[in-house]
Amino acid sequence: MAIKYTYVGHNTHLLDIDGKKVVIDPFFNDNPATDVSANSVEADFILVSHGHYDHIADAVLIAKRTEAKVISNFEIIAWLDKQGVPQEQLHAQHIGGGFTHDIGYVKLTIAHHGSMLPDGSNGGNPTGFLIKTNDKTLYFACDTALFSDMKLYANADLAVLPIGDNFTMGPNDAVQAVKFCTPKVVVPCHYNTWAPIKQNAEAWKEKVEAVTDTKVENLKPGQSLTI
Ligand code: NI
Ligand code: MN
Repeated sequence: MAIKYTYVGHNTHLLDIDGKKVVIDPFFNDNPATDVSANSVEADFILVSHGHYDHIADAVLIAKRTEAKVISNFEIIAWLDKQGVPQEQLHAQHIGGGFTHDIGYVKLTIAHHGSMLPDGSNGGNPTGFLIKTNDKTLYFACDTALFSDMKLYANADLAVLPIGDNFTMGPNDAVQAVKFCTPKVVVPCHYNTWAPIKQNAEAWKEKVEAVTDTKVENLKPGQSLTI
């Protein structure tokens, strides 16, 4: 089964899995990388990696409009409940825990970062996502430092890794991340949105492809890949 992956920009991603629409880290209206409006986004599932504004900004709006199922850690799900997202849409998980949803098995992965919510509430621990369909595996590291346990998420068909530095791992650490998680294809993200995370993705691609067997796909915001 082919999966369509679209890089919206920053750490916002869309997946079409067998007709089901998945939005990872909904950040549209204030996202300098995209002109896509949160009001136009289709969603059956919304995955939120952590509480920072550039990952959760449009989650409540899109969840209420689309009635999508929202998957996140326990603390963020409790916060979304307080924001009025109906409980039947909310699905709490936590790091190391997976659950078989309609789109496949979704596991919350380790991430080394923060997770404070926009109003200062405790957003628990940040996460990434490992998504396993019947024949494909996708790894979204989300906002994180490099860590050697990325080996636990090895050999995905697609890995999406931050390269921006400053808030997350930077390009050199992200080369090491590719060595740890050895995906077939890697897409860099969380760069060029703002000045402190400006990076040269073409130079990164050359480095990765010189030292690993992984293919780098530098997608511009709005571009898609079929996995
Ligand atoms: Ni963050
Ligand atoms: Mn971020």
